[in-house]
Amino acid sequence: MSSVVDILLWGVLPYVVLLVVIGGTIWRYKYDQFGWTTRSSQLYESRLLRIASPLFHFGILAVLVGHIVGLVIPKSWTDAVGVTEHMYHMLALTIGIFAGVGTFVGMALLIYRRRKTGPVFMATTANDKLMYILLVVTLTAGLATTILSLWDTSETSYRDTVSPWFRSIWILQPDVAAMSEAGLSFKVHVLFAFVLFMAWPFTRLVHAFTAPLHYLFRPYIVYRSRDRVTRSGSVPTRRGWDPVGTQDRHNSGYRRSGSGSTRREKTGSGRR
Ligand code: HEM
Repeated sequence: MSSVVDILLWGVLPYVVLLVVIGGTIWRYKYDQFGWTTRSSQLYESRLLRIASPLFHFGILAVLVGHIVGLVIPKSWTDAVGVTEHMYHMLALTIGIFAGVGTFVGMALLIYRRRKTGPVFMATTANDKLMYILLVVTLTAGLATTILSLWDTSETSYRDTVSPWFRSIWILQPDVAAMSEAGLSFKVHVLFAFVLFMAWPFTRLVHAFTAPLHYLFRPYIVYRSRDRVTRSGSVPTRRGWDPVGTQDRHNSGYRRSGSGSTRREKTGSGRR
């Protein structure tokens, strides 16, 4: 029998979190589009950032993929294709610890850099500090669940408790009883994640929703090209790069001018 606290935490709270995340994101988009940015500090310091940022971001992507596999794919499916509980656990442990520790080290370096680089520290707001605290506690609690499972083998697998509960939320029939059976470390981790999710739309973490993936595939931008009009002498000008139609160019209003150069005709969203 689930208690009132269980019902509130695992039956009601998930929907409050969803409402705050969706409502908060719409609100932020409507009222603070100019603040929708990573507020990059790369200009102040780039040596440490070059290592810390990819470590954190690739790590968190791996953690995300691990969560999708662990929470979304039912145990019966992996059983059906012959993956035993032991095999699954070993795989989740190895990849999970690798990804989790990578993310953690990346985050520790980001925080160290933020504290030790004067201009970066000056640009750090109270909002950023709260965001880092929430990230640290959620990540630490997540890693703790995985590391604790190395010792406590008696505990029911989270794939019989947390995962069915997680899936039940999306069909609007929260399986409160399943989540009530989960170990304390999982409950603490999920509650920290809830707070992090609710803060998400109001922090710089919103940049995750608009990651500029097309940057990976676009051609180089031409900043300056040869101008036939101002060049003197008899040497013919060589053809420069011709701009090609990319999403960036269309968005930011680049057009080809008569002199064969590329110039910016109206401002676009150049924010990072
Ligand atoms: C409702 C949301 C979430 C649920 C239900 C959840 C659930 C879980 C579960 C069941 C595990 C244990 C996995 C295992 O031992 O194989 C875990 C581990 C972990 N979680 Fe979460 N989690 C959530 C959100 C988050 C968030 C937002 C973060 C990061 C900010 C995070 C970071 C981690 C980390 C680092 C681990 C250690 C294993 C790994 O690296 O994947 N979790 N989580």
